[in-house]
Amino acid sequence: MPQKIWNSLQSHWDRLQPLHLRTLFEDQNRFAAFSRTLDDLTIDFSKERIDGDALGALLDLARGADVEGRRAAMFAGERINSTEDREVLHVALRGTREDGFQVDGAPTSDLIDPVLEAFLSFADGVRSGQIKAHNSQTFTDVINIGIGGSDLGPVMVARALSPYRGTGPRVHFVSNVDGAHLADVTSGLNPETTLVLIASKTFTTQETMTNAAAAKRWLGENAGSNMAALSTNLEATEAFGIPEARVFGFWDWVGGRYSVWSAIGLSVALSIGSEHFRAFLNGARSMDQHFQTAPLEDNLPVLLALIGIWRRNLMGCATVAMIPYDQRLERLPAYVQQLDMESNGKSVSLGGDGLERSSGPVIWGEPGTNAQHSFFQLIHQGTDIIPVDFIVSAQSGSQYKDQHELLLANCLAQSEALAFGKTAKEVEDEGVASALIPHKVFPGNRPSTTILHKSLDPFALGRLIALFEHKVFVQGTIWGVNSYDQWGVELGKALAQALVPIVRQEASGEDKDASTRGLLDAIKGLS
Ligand code: F6P
Repeated sequence: MPQKIWNSLQSHWDRLQPLHLRTLFEDQNRFAAFSRTLDDLTIDFSKERIDGDALGALLDLARGADVEGRRAAMFAGERINSTEDREVLHVALRGTREDGFQVDGAPTSDLIDPVLEAFLSFADGVRSGQIKAHNSQTFTDVINIGIGGSDLGPVMVARALSPYRGTGPRVHFVSNVDGAHLADVTSGLNPETTLVLIASKTFTTQETMTNAAAAKRWLGENAGSNMAALSTNLEATEAFGIPEARVFGFWDWVGGRYSVWSAIGLSVALSIGSEHFRAFLNGARSMDQHFQTAPLEDNLPVLLALIGIWRRNLMGCATVAMIPYDQRLERLPAYVQQLDMESNGKSVSLGGDGLERSSGPVIWGEPGTNAQHSFFQLIHQGTDIIPVDFIVSAQSGSQYKDQHELLLANCLAQSEALAFGKTAKEVEDEGVASALIPHKVFPGNRPSTTILHKSLDPFALGRLIALFEHKVFVQGTIWGVNSYDQWGVELGKALAQALVPIVRQEASGEDKDASTRGLLDAIKGLS
């Protein structure tokens, strides 16, 4: 990456830093200049602290990092996940045969289509009651046991699309190795009419396999007919005792956090049915096509990524608040946390060198309006600048239509307050006592981007997730990291394995550090 592009970006920030968004908004065309649409989806980044020249330099950065070349490499099935020597082809899962995706010289459709057909017809069969539980009963409930990418996508999507459930089974999720999670979910459920899905790419993850074994015991004699597995590890699913017809596979070129489009999405398909699941895939495909073909200056994932780079590397913001003004997107921040932070939370480049600049920020958030009544105080008046991504639908997702107008008004009010604030003079003009004026001033000039779509339906949600996936890709390309590995989770897993016999008091922990020894002693004393 030529240093001169970064130097140019720095000079743009030096120029813009003293300017308030109030000044930038003197340009009446600012919304038109700094917003883009794709069908009913609009991204408004006019409340970011940029101007046309800065945006031009950001686009130079994308070109300089060869975002277009690397994008072509990903879609062509090149092994861009170099540290694991794998292709990155989750996009093929929502493609069609005509899209021409290939892996190892053969169409991915040959692999994907039969599995997609199989798991969607299984989902529809369970939903219609044609596929029965033990004792020929209809399945009333589904428990998806998985963690990370084998949980966060399905749980987020199933929650977001809950109005599409119709007469399908209730879908529950167990992820934590804390037995309380399984206990709380199974309590009140009937093992005779509950379908348990074991969702694990590797089928070796400690938490999932521990919960799976416990759930199998809970199912008892129903286990044979009431379990299914979603995995790439067919030997392990067989060893666990899941019949082949109840195993829905996928492939190592699908990353865990990119796997909701694969058989890992079975819990979603069971919840919403095949037709809606296909609409969900089609929404993602529409974003894939936009990402591949739109010029960089109109390309939504590219622009979202560049705004993120501006916030992180020029403005120095270490975190981003993701605030969906949509109760059904309550799990979106957690989902994007894994997508973004497991992908770009790296400090080493593809070549193994230390990075020269900061990479992925901390992503966190809660739905609005709730967030307004907890942490928004800090975002408005705290000492740190926290950029915010707002996500909102124009149309209500419930029968309480008039409440949606309140929701929209609140969302718009927050970005307005963040951008423009309230000056001491404005506070004084309201007749506020002078001692209180500093407390009631809002500095404003705090950046936000608003993502607006018509309504939260399966197509729109698929498109939204693909938008974030490609944003992460573009940022990873610019930072020069491998967005598709996750070596940083391994050390803790290995240490936990080694600590299990020590916690069980079957082995001595005398070689552990003083803190760990002290805590082990305290646990022993309290057990
Ligand atoms: O620990 C991190 C991780 O490997 C994630 O990347 C993955 O989504 C999760 O664990 C679950 O893995 P699996 O699907 O193999 O159980």
